[in-house]
Amino acid sequence: MVEIRINTAAPEEVPTPLLAVGVRAGASPPGRLAEVAAPAISGGDFSGREGETALLYAGGAIAAQRLLLVGLGEDGPPSPEALRKAAAAAARRARSSGAREAALVVEGGGEEVRAAAEGALLGLYRFSRYKSNREAGDALEKLELLVDGAREEEARGGARVGRAAAAAAALARDLANEPSNTATPEYLAERAREIARRHGMGCTVLDREGIGEEGLAGLAAVGRAAQNEPRFIALEHRRGGEAPPVVLVGKAVTFDSGGISLKPSSGMEDMKFDMSGGAAVLGAMEAVGALELPLNVVALVPATENLPGGRAFKPGDVLRFRSGKTTEIVSTDAEGRLILADALSYARRYNPAAVVDCATLTGACVVALGHHASGLMGNDERLISEVRAAGEAVGERAWPMPLFEEYTEQIKGDVADIKNSGGRPAGALTAGAFLKEFVDYPWAHLDIAGTAYTKKDGGYRTKGATGVPARLLVEFLIRRAEEAA
Ligand code: BES
Ligand code: MN
Ligand code: ZN
Repeated sequence: MVEIRINTAAPEEVPTPLLAVGVRAGASPPGRLAEVAAPAISGGDFSGREGETALLYAGGAIAAQRLLLVGLGEDGPPSPEALRKAAAAAARRARSSGAREAALVVEGGGEEVRAAAEGALLGLYRFSRYKSNREAGDALEKLELLVDGAREEEARGGARVGRAAAAAAALARDLANEPSNTATPEYLAERAREIARRHGMGCTVLDREGIGEEGLAGLAAVGRAAQNEPRFIALEHRRGGEAPPVVLVGKAVTFDSGGISLKPSSGMEDMKFDMSGGAAVLGAMEAVGALELPLNVVALVPATENLPGGRAFKPGDVLRFRSGKTTEIVSTDAEGRLILADALSYARRYNPAAVVDCATLTGACVVALGHHASGLMGNDERLISEVRAAGEAVGERAWPMPLFEEYTEQIKGDVADIKNSGGRPAGALTAGAFLKEFVDYPWAHLDIAGTAYTKKDGGYRTKGATGVPARLLVEFLIRRAEEAA
């Protein structure tokens, strides 16, 4: 990752190959930067529109060689989202210019610096480990954030949080972008052990045998045909004394072929992203460790492939979960809820204060909300509001959806208690209703099928895995830690 530094020097006096500054529509940059910008603004080459950039040669008027103007749009002080986008645009432009370092003027305090750091770091993210010829212009090593000297302390705090949140999302992106021939369940377990070692967390990993002994019937069934064995990963951050923990649960199907209910082959390659929930949870734990949050936090990641084969579970099969509840398999492609059911039951032993699960669970959620919000369900209005507010704050929007009794009716089983598919109507909500059968604590569920990865490269959300909802989870936990303090 590019190094982010806080500097309190006056922008016009910073010697740098590229100085970037956000400019609102109709406004000018501060001080002598305005002189450099004036011809471009009066000449109509730059209007301050959101996302617009103009690269100018400073010609000795300021210490920087070039001045990059970044549009912040029309109304009022820019939102954190506008700042993340502007910082991403600035950092990418700095990189493509070939500069090794750059500086960015940040007006404001901790919140603004955090947004700028996150935007810049995430905008620069690339998954390039399999490219033989790394793309040119990867020279950018250092980005200085120029802040008002009076707010230096705040700015340093903001940069620290921004760095940690960006690292969480970057780790989530790395894990999810990694193809399934590398990112196996054991690979995820090894990454979790590393996080545990780095931050002094507890880590337990169950293999196929342990999964059987623990009665994790969903994970055992889904993973039965796979050569790459399933794993159940539990990562424990203990810095909250005796307080009950927050438990994060993340679906990690490292490849979802659909199993015997095989998916169509077109687009199936995207099913390497079906472990994005687990990736986000592990990413969030990295930040929890780095920030030493004074909380107890547990991450549970059921990890498996979903493949057809002679040993595969089949439509019509009945599974008996540890809780005693039975489920009849309508589709082996509705596998996510089976492994989440195990993790949600497992969570009960912690007597959790709250459980938040995230999963690329249903195509129906993509139909409902597209790629612009995760589906948000649960059994506790306060927790749902908390999760929603955290997502809004970091630009990882989650939208509440109902879990009416009727959706539970829709998954009543014919030969078993419940069935693992309620058919096409309200597919995201019957999946939520299925999970609800396994919780008896405050719980929220995020369906990230539409938000976990993207085809479009733009702003701070780069093509491939987005890392959603790692930053949402980090923000949620930071707020919980502040509340507890
Ligand atoms: N992993 C998929 C959901 C998914 C679909 C994620 C599209 C990302 C993009 C999940 O396991 C699945 O296959 N769900 C089925 C459920 C159905 C069989 C009840 C679906 O959505 O079609
Ligand atoms: Mn599936
Ligand atoms: Zn799946």
